[in-house]
Amino acid sequence: MNKSIEVNSSQSHYQCNVGQDIFTEEVHRILDRAQSSNCFILIDENVERLHGDLISQSFDEADLETYMMTVPQGEASKSVSFWNSCVNFLLENGVRRNSPVFVIGGGVTGDVGGFAAATALRGVPLIHVPTTILSMVDSSVGGKTGVNHSVGKNLIGAFYQPEAVIADISFLKTLPRNEWTNGLSEILKYGAIRQSTIFDQAEIFLSEDIRQIDEQKLIDLISESIQIKADIVQEDEFEGGIRAYLNFGHTFAHALEKSCDYKKISHGEAVYLGMLAAIELSRNLGAQITADPILKYRSLYRYRVSKEELSLNDLMDHMKFDKKRTNEHIRFVLLKEWQHPFLEEVQSAKAIRQAWSYALDNL
Ligand code: GLY
Repeated sequence: MNKSIEVNSSQSHYQCNVGQDIFTEEVHRILDRAQSSNCFILIDENVERLHGDLISQSFDEADLETYMMTVPQGEASKSVSFWNSCVNFLLENGVRRNSPVFVIGGGVTGDVGGFAAATALRGVPLIHVPTTILSMVDSSVGGKTGVNHSVGKNLIGAFYQPEAVIADISFLKTLPRNEWTNGLSEILKYGAIRQSTIFDQAEIFLSEDIRQIDEQKLIDLISESIQIKADIVQEDEFEGGIRAYLNFGHTFAHALEKSCDYKKISHGEAVYLGMLAAIELSRNLGAQITADPILKYRSLYRYRVSKEELSLNDLMDHMKFDKKRTNEHIRFVLLKEWQHPFLEEVQSAKAIRQAWSYALDNL
C-alpha cells in the first residue's frame, strides 16, 4: 500500500508520496494541477541512463514543452558553477513562475537542483523525486537546498520547500549495494534520536540480499522515516532548536568525510561511524546505553579506508570547521538515553578523542 505524508511549513504544505511504480501517475497529477505550458527536469546522469526511457515517456504523454538537463554524478556538481549552469538552463529556456521543476536523483542533485529552483525568478515550483534511500528519508524533506564552498560543505543555500516529493521505490532496484547502507545510516539515526521501533523495522536490511527486501516493508520503513523527519522540521523549520538533533553523528561524520577528501568514504558510511562516536561520547557523559542497536549493522558497511590511514589530530582539527560549532566549543548532538537527544558543547578534548578511538576501532 502506498503512503502519503503531509508536511506543513511556513512556505507551503506538501505531500511526500511513497510507493512503487507511482512516478508516472504522480507526474501527471502535478502537471495537470500546474497548468503550465512548460516544465523542467534536472536529472542525475546515472538515473537518466538507467531510467531515462520511462521518465521521458511519462513526460511525453503530457502535452507540454519539456526541457531536461543532466546533473553529472558526484559532489563536484554541488558547486556554485554548476548551480549557475542550472539557473542558465532554466532561464534560457523560458522558465516561468508556474513552471514545475522536477529534480530527479540523490542528495547532490536534490541540493543543487533545489537551490536552482529556489533562486531562479526568486523561486519556481520544485518537485523532488529522490532516487536513493538517503534522499528519500532525509534530504528531499525539510527544504534544505544548497551547494558547497571551498571553505566547507553546504555553506551556501536556502531553505526552500518543495511543492511535492515523489518517492518511488522502483528507482532503488538499480542502486549499488553501498547506496542502500548509505541510506540505512540516516534511518538508524531516526531510531536513535526519536523512535525505537525504527530499529526493529530496519532489520529488513539484514536480509541476505538487501535489494530483495519486501517492498511493502520498505515502503513502510521509508514512510515512517519521512514522518519522523516531517515531525521534526514542522516543529523547527529553520534549525533554531530540535532540528539540530538530525545532526546526530554528523559532527564526527563531516570531519571524517573531510579527512578522506570526500572520496574514500560516503556520507552515510561516515554517519554510521559518527553515530558510534557520538554514542561513546554520550556514555562518557553518563548515558547508560550500549551501541548494540547500531553495531548490529556493522557487517553491512564495507569501508574503503582503514584506521591506519586516518590521523586523530586531523580529525580533531576538521571538527573545528563544522557548521555546528559555536563560538568556543564544538557542539554535539548526544543521547541521555536512546531517543533522548540533547545538545552539548563538549570541552574535554580527551573525551572527544576517546570517542573517535572507539569509532575507529570499528573501522
Ligand atoms: N539533513 C538534516 C536536515 O535536514 O536538517
